[in-house]
Amino acid sequence: MRSLLIALVSFWLGIGFVRAIFIEDAFETDWHLENVGIYNCVLKNQDQGSLIVLSDFGSKTLLSYVNETDGQLLFRHVLDLQATDAMMTADRKNIVLKTSENELIAFDSYSGLRINGFDFTAIDFRSECKPDLSNIKLIDGTAQVLDSETGLLIFQTELPSKFESIAFLETDYVSELQLLVHTTDDEYIFQLMKNNTIERSWTRDESNHDIVAHTFIDLADSNLEMVSEEILKENSFPNVWQAYVFRVTTNWNRLRESFRESGYSVGKFLTKLLKLDSASLAAGQDANLIGVKYLVVATKYGVIQALDVQDGKRIWLFDSGLKDILRVEYIGDSRELLVFTENGSYFIYSIENGKAPVLKEERSVGQKNVKSVSLLDSRELFVEFLDGEKKVVALKKGSNCTRTFISTHDSRGIYGHAIDEDQNLEDTWKIDFPEFENLAAFAGKKEAPIVTLGQTLGNRTVLYKYLYPNLASYITVNKQTSKMYVNLIDTITGELLYSQMHEDKIDCNLPINMVFGEYWFVYSYFSTEPIPEQKLVVVELYESLEANKRISTDTDQVNLLKPHQKPAVISKAYFFPEIIQKMSLSQTIFGITSKTIILELNNGQITFLSKDVLSARRVEESKMTDDDKKEFMAMPYVSMIPLNDYFVITHSRTLLLGDNSKLVSTPTNLESTSIVCDIGHDIFCTKIYPSGQFDIMSPSFEKGKLIATIIILIIVCYFLQPSVEAAKLKRSWLVR
Ligand SMILES: *[C@@H]1O[C@H](CO)[C@@H](O)[C@H](O)[C@H]1NC(C)=O
Ligand SMILES: *[C@@H]1O[C@H](CO)[C@@H](O)[C@H](O)[C@H]1NC(C)=O
Ligand SMILES: *[C@@H]1O[C@H](CO)[C@@H](O)[C@H](O)[C@H]1NC(C)=O
Ligand SMILES: *[C@@H]1O[C@H](CO)[C@@H](O)[C@H](O)[C@H]1NC(C)=O
Ligand SMILES: *[C@@H]1O[C@H](CO)[C@@H](O)[C@H](O)[C@H]1NC(C)=O
Repeated sequence: MRSLLIALVSFWLGIGFVRAIFIEDAFETDWHLENVGIYNCVLKNQDQGSLIVLSDFGSKTLLSYVNETDGQLLFRHVLDLQATDAMMTADRKNIVLKTSENELIAFDSYSGLRINGFDFTAIDFRSECKPDLSNIKLIDGTAQVLDSETGLLIFQTELPSKFESIAFLETDYVSELQLLVHTTDDEYIFQLMKNNTIERSWTRDESNHDIVAHTFIDLADSNLEMVSEEILKENSFPNVWQAYVFRVTTNWNRLRESFRESGYSVGKFLTKLLKLDSASLAAGQDANLIGVKYLVVATKYGVIQALDVQDGKRIWLFDSGLKDILRVEYIGDSRELLVFTENGSYFIYSIENGKAPVLKEERSVGQKNVKSVSLLDSRELFVEFLDGEKKVVALKKGSNCTRTFISTHDSRGIYGHAIDEDQNLEDTWKIDFPEFENLAAFAGKKEAPIVTLGQTLGNRTVLYKYLYPNLASYITVNKQTSKMYVNLIDTITGELLYSQMHEDKIDCNLPINMVFGEYWFVYSYFSTEPIPEQKLVVVELYESLEANKRISTDTDQVNLLKPHQKPAVISKAYFFPEIIQKMSLSQTIFGITSKTIILELNNGQITFLSKDVLSARRVEESKMTDDDKKEFMAMPYVSMIPLNDYFVITHSRTLLLGDNSKLVSTPTNLESTSIVCDIGHDIFCTKIYPSGQFDIMSPSFEKGKLIATIIILIIVCYFLQPSVEAAKLKRSWLVR
């Protein structure tokens, strides 16, 4: 028994059976757009062959080095200051930055590292950020280099069609010109001209900076539609035999069809079958199993673009011209992209076959500034205006809305509302926080399929989960006392179901996060006493803590407005070695795969933890009975959860995400696979397999050999048949 336990723990720790991920593998499943942003200042380090770029990163300055030869990012780091201007020293060894406080600070121009004790007395600060355009004329889509004395044209070069400004320019006024052009699409195009020919040119796409809204577009896979139609038809037959006959005939027809397509040639048919195998493997083992999914991002400047979640390639980009986008939403049934702006207008675009959106309609939710807008399940918009008014707007006329309850929250309270059939909004309950207490985190339970009603224990008994759907948990922090309160409420009645308090001096300046899963919630916070420590706490809700005791019944018609049974709660706290910046839950298509908690760490890495590791029922090994150890994924309680390199999904990449990044997960067509994206200054997406790739055939699966065996068997039968017939004949001739 003990060996099983050790095996499980070592599996979890990744010491035992796991295969290491190699860099090449890693970069096949993920992608990363390393953004620099808008170039505020471009300098050049001639000897290194690099351009030194200053751009904004939140309220700080990002210092990036771009290879002048091919435009690749060499490295970048965030400076702990805001630079407004820059220059190079005469010997080109140092960069001097002027901060927003008019202070001068020197950096090494090769490494970008800060130089302490630099002597500024010899420095006469003159800005080098703006290129010197005194002898340059921009006319008719060309840049002309003029002689400084005579003003005559020396030579000229064409500018790109979407020219906006010149970010960097260097010329010898004879025949050479280096030019970095900023286009209206936020691309940066570099050209090196020599003797009127372009010797070198590259483009860097910086259109993904300052993302304010995102959504996912899921293009339905027509293959799956056919399969689901067939399954529906099978289910409609009154008896199993008819359904079976239907399945066999459809599959037989399919086989015949593909045989006909290959011209009734067995050889062609077989090679097609085998090729299918290798081709699909070459295309990446799960290229089309994942389904076609795009990540749509909208920037502060109104540029909306779709990126393929598999590889980050841009599918389409368009400039909506809207400077105040609040939210984008995709509605799959009608293939519409909704873009909401802060002034109350919203725009409906139609998307056909994943092509670029076409504007269909402009509407308004009210001529007032909108604080937030969300899409309810029955396709209504719930709008909160900046002046505090809330209302519900039907997206489609004549849509039938049933009575719905929703809850909203802000830093001062939580509010319940009911929406009636005519989309009137009514306030139902309200939780006001005491003075000095503010909301720090909120997590509502999302509607998801129920996979199992209970947790099976080692001795084959069951603990029933508390699966009441209308739950939300929230955290408030009292700034004065640094105490933290964690509450669980019923979102229909506002009733408090459970509450716990932490007195270990919460650090309010570090992030507090919370996620709500099936029958549990997990939150993270940083406490300063007794020693500074990142903590992760899990709270599990059961119908009863007694095994095999069930209180709810299948047939219960629960009246949601009447008091009902409260959950039995157990909770456990863990330490975590890194500061947790963001937390999110993995999503899969059917919700069968064990849930994992995805964590964005302070150091720019992303990792994930299985919920089985973060269990509230883990106890010290000495207290575990033999039966307890038999439970699936049971582990003894250890207060520290180690950070395991194997589960760091960013591998060797360094992400620059910023404070407003969004860590999101979206399901794929495969139950085992979930897509995780972090959208901030950079965009990063990867695939995770929380329970392993159980629904993907390994590339070593030998389809060829399997088919060959079947064929050999058929041939053997074919040759054996005459001799069997002959034997039968002989037997019937035998004279008894
Ligand atoms: C810049 O790119 C070129 C060509 O790709 C390469 O040869 C050169 O070493 C790079 N420069 C630096 C500083 O990495
Ligand atoms: C460009 O022209 C100059 C002077 O006419 C000449 O010396 C030089 O070799 C030329 N360079 C190239 C790359 O053709
Ligand atoms: C809101 O702003 C958009 C552009 O951002 C504009 O097209 C629209 O007319 C404005 N709507 C209202 C109601 O002012
Ligand atoms: C709404 O309900 C009415 C009757 O209750 C029905 O006739 C109508 O088809 C429904 N509309 C939609 C869009 O479901
Ligand atoms: C099964 O195990 C649970 C938890 O260890 C315990 O509470 C329960 O009493 C056990 N039931 C039986 C029948 O042994």
